[in-house]
Amino acid sequence: MSEDGSERAGRDAVAALQALLDRAEVIVPFTGAGISTESGVPAFRTPGSPWMRNKPIAFDAFMANPEARIEAWRRKFAMDDLYRGAQPNRGHAAIAALVAQGRAPGVITQNIDGLHQASGIADAAVVELHGNGTYATCLSCGLRHELAEIRRVFEASGEAPSCTACGGVVKSATISFGQPMPRAPMRRAEELTLAADLFLVAGSSLVVFPAASFPVLASRNGARLVIVNREPTELDAIADLVVRGDIGETLGRLAG
Ligand code: APR
Repeated sequence: MSEDGSERAGRDAVAALQALLDRAEVIVPFTGAGISTESGVPAFRTPGSPWMRNKPIAFDAFMANPEARIEAWRRKFAMDDLYRGAQPNRGHAAIAALVAQGRAPGVITQNIDGLHQASGIADAAVVELHGNGTYATCLSCGLRHELAEIRRVFEASGEAPSCTACGGVVKSATISFGQPMPRAPMRRAEELTLAADLFLVAGSSLVVFPAASFPVLASRNGARLVIVNREPTELDAIADLVVRGDIGETLGRLAG
């Protein structure tokens, strides 16, 4: 149990979460990889995670070194194959219901899997702090490139793709370590965070910043902070409620 006894599990936890949700005016969900594991997308910091098999390729290495770009694309396509066809699960559906009911103005996510959009939430209501891995963009002119074509060229030539329009470096539309955070999503995430009176974290270890600064900002701004996570997180101590359990199980039992 956390020192103030705010940690709950099972039915007691769902009832406590339901009571907080029922009282809330503006709910802002904040999600991490843990909400997608039920869909077959592996999390980052769980034992044996395939994401941790290799040291991440930092943005400056990707930009400076064609070999690093080739390796980054190889890894990207291998991970895409690992969770191809992943579908939204009960956790995504519960959050989509909050958005559809107008109780959540949007969702802030660290995930790049596009499953919140696939669950029916409009693109504009999904704030992707770490970008999106379902397409690529040119880092010079911003042109969008579809992964199927990128992969065809990559596998035919063995070369890292370049922009068909301007010849610039093409990268998955995700934010790598060392890459500047996307300005508009960061601004929107701050707006949502400051508007929240209930900030609902689901499935994040809360160790990566600046993303993990939003639950802190919400709490400092007077919002109630709820963390639903299977394992302890870095911010449990400041949460009003910690639900130690499975996200799909917990959110799936909330009243629709
Ligand atoms: N139910 C509840 N919790 C779960 C479930 C589940 N079904 N599955 C996993 N979890 C928990 C794990 O215990 C873990 O604490 O979700 C958390 C996921 O934490 P991470 O793997 O660290 O993922 P995340 O917090 O999203 O990582 C943040 O780090 O590598 C970067 O850019 C990457 O966006 C990512 C960022």
